[in-house]
Amino acid sequence: MINSKEWPAEGVSRAPYWIYTDSDIYAREQENIFRGKSWHYVGLEAEVLKPGNYKTTYIGETSVVMTRTEDGEVHVLTNRCAHRGNMVCREAFGSAKRLYCVYHAWSYQLNGDLSNAAFSQGLNGQGGLPKDFDKKNHGLQKLRVARFCGLVFASFKEDTEDFETWLGDVGDGIKRLLNRPLKVLGYDTQRIHSNWKNYHENPRDSYHANILHTFYGTFGLSRQTQESGMVLDKTGRNVYFYTKAGTEKKDTNYDSTKTELRSVNDQLRLEDSSILKWTDEIGDGVSVQILSLYPSFVLHQIANSLATRQLLPKGQGQLDLVWTYFGFEDDSPEMTKTRLLQANLAGSAGMISVEDAAVCEMTYRAIADGQHGESFIEMGGTDLTSGGSHKLSERAIRNFWHNYRQDMGL
Ligand code: FES
Ligand SMILES: [Fe+2]
Repeated sequence: MINSKEWPAEGVSRAPYWIYTDSDIYAREQENIFRGKSWHYVGLEAEVLKPGNYKTTYIGETSVVMTRTEDGEVHVLTNRCAHRGNMVCREAFGSAKRLYCVYHAWSYQLNGDLSNAAFSQGLNGQGGLPKDFDKKNHGLQKLRVARFCGLVFASFKEDTEDFETWLGDVGDGIKRLLNRPLKVLGYDTQRIHSNWKNYHENPRDSYHANILHTFYGTFGLSRQTQESGMVLDKTGRNVYFYTKAGTEKKDTNYDSTKTELRSVNDQLRLEDSSILKWTDEIGDGVSVQILSLYPSFVLHQIANSLATRQLLPKGQGQLDLVWTYFGFEDDSPEMTKTRLLQANLAGSAGMISVEDAAVCEMTYRAIADGQHGESFIEMGGTDLTSGGSHKLSERAIRNFWHNYRQDMGL
């Protein structure tokens, strides 16, 4: 039977496949979610360290610029000239005194105010802008900005709750990790042929982590039998999972001779096992922490590898995932080397993450007609609280769909 565009009666324990493939839904998401009340990650303060520095990026499909002004403030502006809409910044990163539009030479201060419009007085009494033209009314659109532990977020809406309230208890997972000034180590951008929500569900899904990712189980970085848990904020928008390596209890689920679980492969050996050597920097034993903020941000610690992931939708069937690897300003050269080595665990060709993009693409291919069927999201229960804080649960995904449906009016 062809799906009607009605949400299944079971509610948050189902997601109909048309929600991933419908172009009208995609357009509505841009308005209701990406330009709606959410807070969106735009970058690290370390990327615009000095006055004059800027970075261009996107929130959803809207191009934005993050700038640092002389007073040390960080601003986020739409990258769209107030005259006739040309981009005012083309480079990914740069430094400038003004943002200058090449089309008709309107220029802007780094806080977004219009500083000059070429020929605004006309020439020899001819042309020029109207007498009542007021520069104050023609700046770049300014977004609301929040800075938290070196991360920068922005929102299009003035009436959204402040960022720390938005984070709820999940803020502790960020504070735990980002406790001193950051230093960028590198980037990796990955085009994934899948809907952005397929990817957003993935790091919220702790059920798959120790099954799909053979590397985790085989080399002991993360196993279901280790001490682990989940923290979800009270709105259900934001979540993090943690695992403590070396705390496993014997469990026959991991004996591949007795079960069909393929998460441990006894045949695999590492030529160079130095990638597994990690330092417990914080002293709490946590070897893996994966933190997701609604709707498009991930922060991970995998051993000593640290990175943000920014999810940028590019039409309903593809997305860009921007990985920013970082360490701390006071890292020793050895620690920087370890972080760079362990960066190979994640990213587009990462020994763990490569499988996430693969399953997102395969899922999208399997549901691409969008006409039939729905996903089944009942691990740990059927509602927003069932599953508790256990990792073998899809509670965080049910909570995602709950927030999504509210924002989309579905
Ligand atoms: S579009 Fe920017 S100055 Fe005309
Ligand atoms: Fe994964």
